[in-house]
Amino acid sequence: MPMASRTNAPPPTLHWVGGVDGRLWLIDQTRLPVECREIECATVEDVWDAIRRLRVRGAPAIGVAAAYGLVLGVQPAAADDRGRFDARLHEVADYLATSRPTAVNLFWALDRMRRVADGAPNLPPAAIRERLLGEAQTIEREDREMCAAIGRHGAALLADGQGVLTHCNAGGLATAGDGTALAVIFAAAAQGKRLQVYADETRPLLQGARLTTWELVQRGIPVTLICDSMAGWVMREGRVQAVITGADRIAANGDTANKIGTYSVALLARAHGIPFYVAAPSSTFDLSLSSGTAIPIEQRPADEVTHGLGRQTAPENVDVYNPAFDVTPAEHIAAIITERGVIRPVNSEAIETLVGSIRPDD
Ligand code: MRU
Repeated sequence: MPMASRTNAPPPTLHWVGGVDGRLWLIDQTRLPVECREIECATVEDVWDAIRRLRVRGAPAIGVAAAYGLVLGVQPAAADDRGRFDARLHEVADYLATSRPTAVNLFWALDRMRRVADGAPNLPPAAIRERLLGEAQTIEREDREMCAAIGRHGAALLADGQGVLTHCNAGGLATAGDGTALAVIFAAAAQGKRLQVYADETRPLLQGARLTTWELVQRGIPVTLICDSMAGWVMREGRVQAVITGADRIAANGDTANKIGTYSVALLARAHGIPFYVAAPSSTFDLSLSSGTAIPIEQRPADEVTHGLGRQTAPENVDVYNPAFDVTPAEHIAAIITERGVIRPVNSEAIETLVGSIRPDD
């Protein structure tokens, strides 16, 4: 993947350049916060690799990237007949679906893209390609709008002067817009509420330390970085009045998969009587799963734990367990903030009422 030159103002997390023969550009998040560089994805393999390596990450951003990845993936089939074009499209979608398993936005976006072709069997490939690009751009635009709406709905949950703890990165870098959890913080700050954010560093890949603090510093919002192991004590000291995180997949009963460590934070919040909020768009709900036990949890390579800080921090060949996500049971979640409104209390009925009505044709 060719590299672009470093820019001063941060570029968008990801954006498409050109028409149906265009390219996807995205910030290489593995280089943040030291360097803010964009990379060009010219092939579907580039996009798969960028998702797998977390150059682009965060559930909504993964979905948007995959949609554009599919547009790239059918470029070589432009001159094929419709049958071969469709075969290529489904092959590419199946391939992209193997990039990461937990964030349901990936599969949700790919399903939307497949439906574009399946719903117009008589159109020539050239017309389908235009529609696929249009659908990817719609997914991106809707994601931006969902972030803004989540911010509007969630801001009321935060009060002036509060300490707010967040885990991982659910900000603009994780979406096409302002983020989910961080959108709530940005919106509350824009209303004049003075917040003190505590960002867990989020071992092993440090999305909190590298990405969340980067975003908050840019926005001028007070942020204090803590090691994951400090969250309980910071709560005990009375510094935190609310916890807010994003989500990678929410089951029909509200059980929520998010970055590993989120479950521990939720338990700590409960022990200290602090509300634990999840902020996520409707594209993060998987109503086909009745509970969180069925959510697939991504297992990642051992070297992220043993060599995660750029140097070896554990003996060679030590056994490592590295699940990338955990599941917080719904009973520990005070509310889920969506673009449609706030789900509270968190249970199957409330979720069905707010989110069920916009499936499956959204
Ligand atoms: O492994 P990552 O960095 O993709 O994990 C991201 C998270 O867990 C986020 O909290 C989640 O995707 C929500 S992003 C709005």
